[in-house]
Amino acid sequence: PTNAFLPVLFLAVLAVSVGCSSAPSGEKLEQDSRFDEPFRPQYHFSPPSQWMNDPNGMVYFEGEYHLFYQHYPDSNVWGPMHWGHAISEDLVHWEHLPIAIAPDSLGWIFSGSAVFDETNSSGLGTPDNPPLVAIYTYHDPVGAEAGREDFQTQGIAYSTDRGRNWTKYTGNPVLKNPGIRDFRDPKVSRIGDRWIMSLAVKDRIRFYSSGNLLDWTYESDFQPEWAAYGGVWECPDLFTLTTPEGEEKWILFVSINPGGPNGGSATQYFVGDFDGTTFTSESDQVKWLDYGADNYAGVTWSNVPESDGRRLFIGWMSNWAYANVVPTENWRSANTLPRALQLIREGETYLIRSRPVAELEKLRKSASTKEGDSWDIEAELAELLLFPEAGDFRLELGNQAGEKVLLAKKGDQLTFDRSQSGISGFSEAFPALHTAPLNGMEVNELRVFLDRSSVEVFVNQGALVLSEIVFPEQPYSQARLTGFKRNHRVYELTGIW
Ligand code: FRU
Repeated sequence: PTNAFLPVLFLAVLAVSVGCSSAPSGEKLEQDSRFDEPFRPQYHFSPPSQWMNDPNGMVYFEGEYHLFYQHYPDSNVWGPMHWGHAISEDLVHWEHLPIAIAPDSLGWIFSGSAVFDETNSSGLGTPDNPPLVAIYTYHDPVGAEAGREDFQTQGIAYSTDRGRNWTKYTGNPVLKNPGIRDFRDPKVSRIGDRWIMSLAVKDRIRFYSSGNLLDWTYESDFQPEWAAYGGVWECPDLFTLTTPEGEEKWILFVSINPGGPNGGSATQYFVGDFDGTTFTSESDQVKWLDYGADNYAGVTWSNVPESDGRRLFIGWMSNWAYANVVPTENWRSANTLPRALQLIREGETYLIRSRPVAELEKLRKSASTKEGDSWDIEAELAELLLFPEAGDFRLELGNQAGEKVLLAKKGDQLTFDRSQSGISGFSEAFPALHTAPLNGMEVNELRVFLDRSSVEVFVNQGALVLSEIVFPEQPYSQARLTGFKRNHRVYELTGIW
């Protein structure tokens, strides 16, 4: 911003931070519509100010996508968690709303999910005006501090005004703790004629069922011996996808921290069957949703009741290894691009393919074709479409300051090197080379999204994905390629704020 704008910007930032913690719920927040700080993502969702982690409670209702998120409105590091809130009509442009759910005497508000209780099974709305219901974890900091084991329980809040105001259920908690320290992140969905809750319980996923969202019955535990156990299990998600042959499969996402394939936080998933009670995996190979370092605690949802059949996904684009110390001040962290999930066949089993949702194409402002092995990107916000030749390749995206990221295929491996990507001294874990196995896959298409502090790489229409954050002092403005066909497509993108 120019100097003349600074006082306005200051007031706007002040209004946002004050508004965040004290605006009466239901009232629209004043926000700095430019969000123009260094590193501020221009077309990824980020909070108006202060700390954010996991996306929560993704739900589509009456033409609006609701995004809630783990939020601490009083600081730019993790602390007493609230549910921040934003809505979107198109998954691209977001409007920030006041905080939806704030801590109370039962504890801080950790991650969870939201459902439309269409039949008013909970009785929290009326048959004519059934409620949206949020199911989240209460984290009692006093109990935790005192060394108790049972400080995480599950609670409920509901809204009967299109998600604008949220009331806590007076009978909270709805699921007490049996004496296990890690007992959190309820993901609830309607399966058959019951509600099923998937809950992360230390090193397993525990399933519960309910007819009314208020009373929960234990069903089963999922804990195969061959899964990844390098860290605590968090943020489960249970849903279906259809195979290319038209068969329905059940998918279970489990985020783990640490223990990811490239260090720190990551999400493993299982493909199999859920019989209403028990989940079984049909393969005993660990599968990872994203081989980049920065896609964690993601959630899926669909746009029922107006379903277009898509299973949508959004993740937190950071990693607990350094999330609290990344070099931003007014806000911390962003979400991945929203993606649509599909199943593709791989040998005896299935893989998840994640692709940016088609709505994102409306960000394309202009398109150009680039020739040859070295050219200028000419846009700070860009989408690149590149076609490698068969065999090994190398793609370098860099700037005048010598900062760069390097994506390379060597044999059966893909690597992403961000060791010289820009500012990186804030954490030893950050400046690293990340590796992804190709398992025999030939790479024929790369789609790369550049925002102010992220690079997302979609290989072969999302059959392999790397989501990575970076902090270059200047945008990456030059591309250098080896092992590519001649014509490259570059789209300049517009910002959303
Ligand atoms: C995952 C997580 C969740 C928890 C939340 C707390 O990133 O640790 O398990 O509910 O963050 O903010």
